[in-house]
Amino acid sequence: MSFEIRPLPGVTGAEVIGFDIGRDGADQAARQRLRDAWTDRVVLAFRDMEIDEAGFMRLAGLFGENVPQPVQRPEYRVEGFPFIRLLSSRHRDSLGDNKPLNVGGTWHTDHSHLPDPPRGTVLRAIRLPGEGGDTSFTNQRAAYEALDEETRREVDPLVGLHIYNSRYAPRRMATMTPAEEREAPSARHPLVRPHPVSGRKALYFNPIRIERFDGMDAAASQALMDRLVAHCEQDRFVYRHRWRAGDVLIWDNAQALHMVRHDYDPARERVMHRTLVG
Ligand code: SIN
Repeated sequence: MSFEIRPLPGVTGAEVIGFDIGRDGADQAARQRLRDAWTDRVVLAFRDMEIDEAGFMRLAGLFGENVPQPVQRPEYRVEGFPFIRLLSSRHRDSLGDNKPLNVGGTWHTDHSHLPDPPRGTVLRAIRLPGEGGDTSFTNQRAAYEALDEETRREVDPLVGLHIYNSRYAPRRMATMTPAEEREAPSARHPLVRPHPVSGRKALYFNPIRIERFDGMDAAASQALMDRLVAHCEQDRFVYRHRWRAGDVLIWDNAQALHMVRHDYDPARERVMHRTLVG
């Protein structure tokens, strides 16, 4: 095995250097090493990947089974790859007022309105804007473990109601068709969940999807989430990824919030390919 996994400073993130999907992709020991590092470090940043769409899907497949993208639009399609969604900074709310969508621009975890949300999101840089467009990640396990006893007693028993289009989301979501609205599931998830692999507890909430916690009204629920966001977004828990050509990231939605900064020249298009794994 000739690739390296280098933990980044702090508790979140590791770089994977020299990974070759053709050479290392079929190696079970290599796969286990990557999966262990993913669980431990929450985000893996593969550098200098020379892959196409098929290679991207193969890489994602090392971490889990494909999960369909919940909202489909013709402009999101990548021909021949139904599990890849194209994300472009030029996308607009095509079924709504056609204004630009601030996709991924505030803290969230992917698709928590599903009863079984995808554990992994895999993102590949296709076209970068030059300066800006970084993606940041919190470590929700480390953030939970750093809470004081009193706050743990407060959050441990809570259960959140997650719906696709929460009234309280700090940014707009793509308008859905009536059929999508009807079929969109909602889900209740405990605010503190043991990780499916490590068993270690992590905070699981989603400021764009949670309407309220059971037994609390909306105002108290949103105030609690604001407090938790302020705790989780401290520098000691966050990894901020500065994208380079050839980067592919995978993160663990069970123990991370993420957010992209759309702070770059709007004349430059930022394009990514995204796939989900369960
Ligand atoms: C996302 O939130 O799914 C996209 C993040 C990014 O574009 O960096």
